[in-house]
Amino acid sequence: MVTAQHLLDLKGDDVWTISPEDTVFDALRLMARVDIGALLVMEGDDLIGILSERDYARKIVLLGKASRDTKVREIMTSRVFSIHPLQTIEECMDLMTQKRIRHVPVVLDEKVIGVISIGDVVKHIIHKQRETIKDLTNKISSTQSFVA
Ligand SMILES: NC(=O)c1ccc[n+]([C@@H]2O[C@H](COP(=O)([O-])OP(=O)(O)OC[C@H]3O[C@@H](n4cnc5c(N)ncnc54)[C@H](O)[C@@H]3O)[C@@H](O)[C@H]2O)c1
Repeated sequence: MVTAQHLLDLKGDDVWTISPEDTVFDALRLMARVDIGALLVMEGDDLIGILSERDYARKIVLLGKASRDTKVREIMTSRVFSIHPLQTIEECMDLMTQKRIRHVPVVLDEKVIGVISIGDVVKHIIHKQRETIKDLTNKISSTQSFVA
């Protein structure tokens, strides 16, 4: 079973965060600079929300608000779903599907130790499927050469 911790070991344990008092514009600039789609909103060590491109699209653009005049706190999603590092990638995928979220913080003893995105999960699944196909192809060709 591949766990969230295994995925973090492969992809890295960077955690990009923003303060609730920063502006949405600051958040967008940071997301663009590091090429990611969501930031964890931290007050000190406490995870108090998540800000995604979806929050921006729906709560700024559609409502005709200005990102420079709006604080992260005003549009962040406060209910954050997280997983434990020992939970499996399948559990992570289930959570993403059920809650319709694309970024999941990995939390150990109330401390954020990484972030897993839907892209990370998809990449992992594609990798696993390629390995399975390779194994099956090898098995089939060795059976065929045995029969021949
Ligand atoms: N082809 C597909 O099936 C498929 C599926 C999902 C996503 N995508 C695309 O892949 C691209 C990447 O999407 P994504 O889902 O990985 O999201 P993303 O762009 O937010 O994440 C990119 C990488 O940064 C990491 N990351 C994101 N936010 C972070 C944070 N706050 N702190 C630390 N690390 C963070 C993620 O874990 C991931 O490794 C997007 O353009 C998306 O449209 C493609």
